[in-house]
Amino acid sequence: MVAKTLFGLEETLSKELIALGAQKIKQLTRSVEFYGGQELLYKANLWCRTATRILVPIKTFQVREAADLYRKARKIDWGRFLNANQTIAINAVIINSVFDNSLFVAQKTKDAIADQFRDNMGKRPSVDLKSPDIRINVYINQSECTLSLDSSNEPLFKRGYRGETGKAPLNEVLAAGIVLLSGWDGESSFVDGMCGSGTILIEAGLMARNIAPGLNRRKFGFMNWPDYDKNRFSQICTEAREQIRPKLNFEMLGSDIDSRQVKLAASNARRAGLEKDIRFTRSPLIDLIPPIAPGVLIVNPPYGERLAVENINDSYHLMGDAFKKNFTDYDAFVFTGNLSAAKHIGLRTSQRIEMYNGPIECRLLKFEMYRGTRKVKHPLEDLN
Ligand SMILES: C[S@@+](CC[C@H](N)C(=O)[O-])C[C@H]1O[C@@H](n2cnc3c(N)ncnc32)[C@H](O)[C@@H]1O
Repeated sequence: MVAKTLFGLEETLSKELIALGAQKIKQLTRSVEFYGGQELLYKANLWCRTATRILVPIKTFQVREAADLYRKARKIDWGRFLNANQTIAINAVIINSVFDNSLFVAQKTKDAIADQFRDNMGKRPSVDLKSPDIRINVYINQSECTLSLDSSNEPLFKRGYRGETGKAPLNEVLAAGIVLLSGWDGESSFVDGMCGSGTILIEAGLMARNIAPGLNRRKFGFMNWPDYDKNRFSQICTEAREQIRPKLNFEMLGSDIDSRQVKLAASNARRAGLEKDIRFTRSPLIDLIPPIAPGVLIVNPPYGERLAVENINDSYHLMGDAFKKNFTDYDAFVFTGNLSAAKHIGLRTSQRIEMYNGPIECRLLKFEMYRGTRKVKHPLEDLN
């Protein structure tokens, strides 16, 4: 199987898969290959916090031109995987190949499947790009083509707790990855002082309560497969529910300068079943009084696309001041795509991790705010 993820989270995802019992793990860029059976497939969909999809490859072959793709895709016995009354969607990804148009590749694959059904049964599956019963993935790297079934269908970051979206909400998989990379132990204070719609806190709360991230979802791709074992999956869900930690004995705090964001975050947390676990308040970061140390603070500040350069630099400087003033004995993390403003935080980083938020190159920066953490001599000397 292949678990897809975001850049920078491959190792974190490998650890998650190993914990679920995956064998023969191989880390690639933005994906992890592994071996396992149906039970692992179901568990990976339900439990992996940092996977976006779980694919099951059905065939790999060489393609040199469009005719190869059509001919070889048509040879596969598609009746094993779907029926003519189901709807399909094809996602294509192409790397360094003679093909340069992923829509064309998707179209050719769809033609091969549809023509096979029409010839054999006189009826063909129709296409539904938005909400298909069966999602198929075509991956062409140079001349090697792999066709896979997408066992997740809707991407796994759609956890089901998000209502209306906030200002610039993080992808749930990215937020979970940031929390896991922070090394937070799930047993001590946790704060997001610029919480927006609350994604980082909610992902952290789900981890701390040991709630499987997929437990709120009603649909996975594998549920429409002919081999779907409903009893087996409900047994896995029942076991997951039995493992939930009933309550937390430390504080989780979310805050934002904007009261609408605070309301939104609180309603998302309620939808995720975490209303008793996360306290929300409205405050600028500089005035926020955190729960008892030690703890972890994670902030995802605005990157400042719409702000003048001096303003954004000043606001990042103020963030550094807030860390020093209020967060003694905390590990403070900043996730930002504004690498030049980040230099104005004015504190020495102890770790810098390269990540992406969509197309934007970002950093997860760690600041250890132990008593005696000093300002760097010149703020710009760090981070280069
Ligand atoms: C990029 S958004 C955070 C998005 C959030 N991670 C999510 O997933 O929804 C940045 C947030 O920082 C808040 N903010 C900006 N300056 C702040 C300050 N000085 N104190 C507290 N919050 C602030 C904004 O109101 C905004 O909600």
